[in-house]
Amino acid sequence: GPVDGFLEGHAGLRIDGARLLDRLEELAKIGADPAGGITRLGLSAQENAAMAYLRDLCAEAGLATETDPAGNLLVHRPRTRREAAPVLLVGSHVDTVVQGGRLDGAYGVIAALEVLQVLHENDVDLPVEMVAVAFANEEGALIQTPFWGSRALCGSLEDGLAAEDRAGRPVSAYLAQAGGSPERLADAAWSPGAIAAYLELHIEQGPSLERLGVPIGVVDGIVGRTILDIDVVGEAQHAGTTPMADRRDAMVAAAEIILAVQRIATEDAVCATATTGYLEAHPNVTNTITGTVRLTVEVRDTDPAKLVRGEAAVRSECARVSAASGCAVEARASMRSRSVSTAPPLRDAVRGAADTLGLPHLTMPSGAGHDAQIVALVAPIGMIFVPSKRGISHAPGEDTAPADLVHGANVLLHSVLGAQTA
Ligand code: GLV
Ligand code: MN
Ligand code: MN
Ligand code: MN
Repeated sequence: GPVDGFLEGHAGLRIDGARLLDRLEELAKIGADPAGGITRLGLSAQENAAMAYLRDLCAEAGLATETDPAGNLLVHRPRTRREAAPVLLVGSHVDTVVQGGRLDGAYGVIAALEVLQVLHENDVDLPVEMVAVAFANEEGALIQTPFWGSRALCGSLEDGLAAEDRAGRPVSAYLAQAGGSPERLADAAWSPGAIAAYLELHIEQGPSLERLGVPIGVVDGIVGRTILDIDVVGEAQHAGTTPMADRRDAMVAAAEIILAVQRIATEDAVCATATTGYLEAHPNVTNTITGTVRLTVEVRDTDPAKLVRGEAAVRSECARVSAASGCAVEARASMRSRSVSTAPPLRDAVRGAADTLGLPHLTMPSGAGHDAQIVALVAPIGMIFVPSKRGISHAPGEDTAPADLVHGANVLLHSVLGAQTA
């Protein structure tokens, strides 16, 4: 066939490690938070600045860029017409959580650009053309729609324009600033079959690879997740005059819910993880009993049945706390993402790449969410992990050894080459 000898011909190809590390350092300056870490929220001015930095890199490298109506940055070689044929899509995101790390998402995007640039510089003709992507707003930290960009590109962004920030400012206001287009948002969706495969390189964000001393993770599946927005409504009242027995204290009810949420994934083992991450108290005053609390609870599991049971357990705890406290408790699912499996041929491509480079590898699941799990609904996906120092992520201490970052990008390069024959 046309790909006979293709892999052998490129076995010696390597990415430019120094260039990769330099760019990661430059990108980390965008949205650097004086309070620590990086705050580069999806569709904010900081994410826009990061996208502009990427466009500059691409222009210097002679790569063509395009920002789609959802604010996603797409990068391809100048002579490629991605509309013409299915593409091998490779990328991740450059937005962060509040005070997040410098590698979650950013690493996968910078590495994808590096791979594309090396293929371009070496004039490597690919049977299936590669397009690099920086998906907009993966985290959903500002506009409450995680996987915004990948959902838009994959045609699963339902009611996208209803998304807003916590102050109620609509996404359309942000989108125009991001080079997207609220009017043409639906046009961000690629036609069915346009993606031949998707590859994403990411830090593990957990401790497994480091503990086992293995440089490469071959991801076999990604957890599903349900996010519940919960409102607890009690009664704001004077903290000195209201007898303890007469109170409907939303703060205390919220505390009961928070502890119950923890129990659901520990003692009760209903699902893999359960987390209360966001909490907002009103009026948030020392000498007033709290009237209302808004919090978010998320549950995760690779088993869809356990995910459903986890959500049901949270809801039943909310009902129990409501009855016991006299506070009204309302829970609304604001996001559901399905657990997915990676495609065996792409796992094999990643293993083959690691073997070519003499790097030990381990097959493992992902406890974090990724754009890959959205793409998985329309195309085969593969994911590569590199170790995270002390397993830290979504925090300023997020880090990975430079040598591991370079290894991972080389595995991505050879996975792209290997996927051509998969
Ligand atoms: C994605 O960043 C997640 O929260 O897993
Ligand atoms: Mn993240
Ligand atoms: Mn990420
Ligand atoms: Mn919300």
